[in-house]
Amino acid sequence: MKNLTIIEHPLVKRDLTLLRDRRTPSNQFRAILRRTSTLMAYEVTRQLPLKRVSVSTPLERTKGYVVSQPVVLVPILRAGLGLVGGFVEMIPDARVGHIGLYRDEESLKPVDYYFKVPRNLKHALVLLLDPMLATGGSGVAAVSYLKEKGAMKIFYVSLVAAPEGVRAMQRAHPDIHIYTCSLDRGLNEKGYILPGLGDAGDRIFGTE
Ligand code: PRP
Ligand code: URA
Repeated sequence: MKNLTIIEHPLVKRDLTLLRDRRTPSNQFRAILRRTSTLMAYEVTRQLPLKRVSVSTPLERTKGYVVSQPVVLVPILRAGLGLVGGFVEMIPDARVGHIGLYRDEESLKPVDYYFKVPRNLKHALVLLLDPMLATGGSGVAAVSYLKEKGAMKIFYVSLVAAPEGVRAMQRAHPDIHIYTCSLDRGLNEKGYILPGLGDAGDRIFGTE
């Protein structure tokens, strides 16, 4: 599929298996998701632009690099919060916005309740974080909002994606690159990803 990268790292595959396992309790789920998000951040930032600088070691001057594009992380509440820790660890300078959306259980349409993003998104790489790309409704709405706020380069970063969600995103926003650790089989009649990992927000926060 176009504009789609599957993160194939062996440690990610191992962690995703633990996250899928219904027996994994919330405390472990959170810790594993945080570790996985560090690995995801490593893969997602492979093309981050650099600027040459010079640095003095204790012995002499040599060349070095700084990241030349600001990075903005935007988790979709709630479940996206589970990915923030690992990304911030890898990109400590990143600014962080928040988008509050939940899916209406009947219609599966996204309902928005909170938006707060940093200024000057135009030149930033915006990493939109949400573990689950299911119907794509939440992701598509979040990208539309970020574009309204001036974002020009957005990567959508998920842990598990359904083909339906990828297609919806590609239709609505063909310029967005999607990263995921697994393209699962599809959705059930309630809009849950199969095989998936269940309700990500509930598993992270221990609600049910
Ligand atoms: C989940 C998930 C996504 C959305 C994906 O959130 O974290 O945001 O569903 O589904 P979609 O692609 O069909 O829109 P949920 O609505 O359960 O809210 P929560 O994170 O607050 O639990
Ligand atoms: N949201 C989730 O948390 N899980 C799914 O499988 C689909 C949407």
